[in-house]
Amino acid sequence: MQVALVGLGVMGKNLALNLIEKGLTLVAYDTNPDAGEELLSCAKTQGTAERLHIVSDLHDMVRRLEAPRSILLLVPAGELVDRVCQDLVDAGVGKDDIIVDCGNSNYKDGIARKLKYQNKFEFATMGISGGAEGARHGPAMMASGSEGGWERIESSFEKVAASYNGESCFARVGQSASGHFVKMVHNGIEYALMQLIAEIYQLLRLGAGKTPQQIAEIFDTWSEGELNSYLLAISSHILKLETTDGKALVDLIDNKVGAKGTGLWTAQNALELGIAVPSLVAAVQARHLTNTGDTHAAKEMTYAAKATERLDIDLDELKDAFHLASLLCYRQGLALIKGASRAHQWKVDLAKTLQTWRAGCIIRADYLDQIAEGVEFIDTLDTQVKALRRITGAAVSTGLAFPVLSATQNYLATLSTPSNGHLVQAQRDYFGEHGIKTHSGEVCHLTDLVEIDAKVR
Ligand code: 6PG
Repeated sequence: MQVALVGLGVMGKNLALNLIEKGLTLVAYDTNPDAGEELLSCAKTQGTAERLHIVSDLHDMVRRLEAPRSILLLVPAGELVDRVCQDLVDAGVGKDDIIVDCGNSNYKDGIARKLKYQNKFEFATMGISGGAEGARHGPAMMASGSEGGWERIESSFEKVAASYNGESCFARVGQSASGHFVKMVHNGIEYALMQLIAEIYQLLRLGAGKTPQQIAEIFDTWSEGELNSYLLAISSHILKLETTDGKALVDLIDNKVGAKGTGLWTAQNALELGIAVPSLVAAVQARHLTNTGDTHAAKEMTYAAKATERLDIDLDELKDAFHLASLLCYRQGLALIKGASRAHQWKVDLAKTLQTWRAGCIIRADYLDQIAEGVEFIDTLDTQVKALRRITGAAVSTGLAFPVLSATQNYLATLSTPSNGHLVQAQRDYFGEHGIKTHSGEVCHLTDLVEIDAKVR
């Protein structure tokens, strides 16, 4: 099997090494000749260089590939994708060839590109997760579309992707550009889980007075059981890291959090589609808040918070709360995928989506089994529900910030307790005559049900 790859940055280089290691023949190109040289030298070290051809221009790439061609793009999302597509067309790519955009592109661009290039070549999308390590040894691959070219290449990707219990973490999750939507939501969940872990750390550190080392040990204990996840494991590892003079590494790092945009897109799409993902939105805004705060004041406040009375936290209860909150973050993401799939008629298969997240990706976790089995959170996890409620209450009472924990508790409470929407509906009708619906299904106005002599002005 022969494929081409354009873009030899960190992800591209590592995926290239993975592809040739799995037996594919690769033609690779990057505008920077040093990137090609570096890849070649790594391939020589791994003994696979005979399957690698570095080319110095796209014409050469297209010439070397047997038609129909399969080309992967690992270039930064945005205009560059279009520029490379056009260059490939100019270099001779044709109707039967497939070009797969594997970057963190916006799915809306993917839909537009499918239309734009439909008479030139097959344009397909695939979200890849797992960072450099994942790309090198087996990433999660969220592909989409029904292009004929997939038939040629997907069995190879099944081997290149990570596997979980013998099942590949490559899947064509749905139609059109849904692979990029699924990857985007993966990142939205990623933001929420990262922030949630940071909040649990904060509660233990400033609320309960534990050291980073002690918190790492708690995370390790949790990881031995059902809570084992990649993000918890790396957090524990990070918390154990110390400088040569014994300072915790985390204490040297500025609090401002960066973001490349996929979390924001998740929040924007959820709001546009009217699907509630409060934990995911809160995580995006938590990052925004780290950039707007006065760091000096925040530091002072941190010391003030340190001086507050220590909380006596029941670690089993905290574990239960963390477990349920994590599940609820996935639940919100999956609800968003389901809603978008319905709105766009993508026919996204949620089971296949979860299959791609089982290994190789950043949000892989052992408890995804529970989600795959369709656990009904609200009815069956009573102990955890109580734990989440109590832990959130205790956390908030410290005065510290717990945006994702609180948003998740509110999400669960909104779904599982009586709503107050009737009063809001009444308010809307009171001043705007927007109409109400009664329990018997009648659509009317307040004034149809009661006499209102004079409205408050
Ligand atoms: C992955 C990651 C990867 C990257 C994101 C998030 O699945 O491998 O999600 O795609 O970490 O771009 O980055 P930001 O936190 O910078 O938005």
